[in-house]
Amino acid sequence: MSDVNHDQPTHFAFDEVSEAEITKVLAKYPPERKASGALPLLYIVQDQMKRQTGSAWVPTVAMDVVAERLDVAPIRIYEVATFYTMFNLKPIGKYHLQVCTTTSCWLRGSDDVLGACKKAAGIAHVGGTSADGLFTLSEAECLGACANAPILQVDNDFYEDLDGPRTEALIAALRRDEVPQPGPTNGRHGSEPEGGRRVLLDANAGAAGPQKG
Ligand code: FES
Repeated sequence: MSDVNHDQPTHFAFDEVSEAEITKVLAKYPPERKASGALPLLYIVQDQMKRQTGSAWVPTVAMDVVAERLDVAPIRIYEVATFYTMFNLKPIGKYHLQVCTTTSCWLRGSDDVLGACKKAAGIAHVGGTSADGLFTLSEAECLGACANAPILQVDNDFYEDLDGPRTEALIAALRRDEVPQPGPTNGRHGSEPEGGRRVLLDANAGAAGPQKG
């Protein structure tokens, strides 16, 4: 693994909260297929690290613990953890800012969102962490929410329909330890057209059932 040249803990053990989650996850698979729990267990590790240290990441020793729990060779878990970008292989800031810069978001202003993140969080370049340890900035590929582009993912939440000023306001709120409601930030409801719904305006339409000819 290339990105592990920093202080790694020498011990990791699942806590009670994680054990309860693991029981739920492993109940979904037959015992001989429990290796399928690799992704969820890595998420459980990352969540536990956030609870315990304030930084959501997956230390190598925790991958070994996951491998042991799933009865697979450690390399099987290293492969998964290093392939998927959702897993952080080194400590990150308290809040992980992930700006989608793929086509839809780019056309809708992701450059402004990225610039606002750098300015408001005090981070000079993508991949960096702010000096106060509060924010880490990453660039993400399509997050699958193009209808509400541009998107900023903060930890596990999506903030949508952003622009520069609203991104700065969001980061200022996080700095105050306030976590705004995720979703559209421009007053839009879900993924409705800008300006509001244009079809299916009558809630009672069709209530009487199909008409007989
Ligand atoms: S391009 Fe950003 S969510 Fe799809």
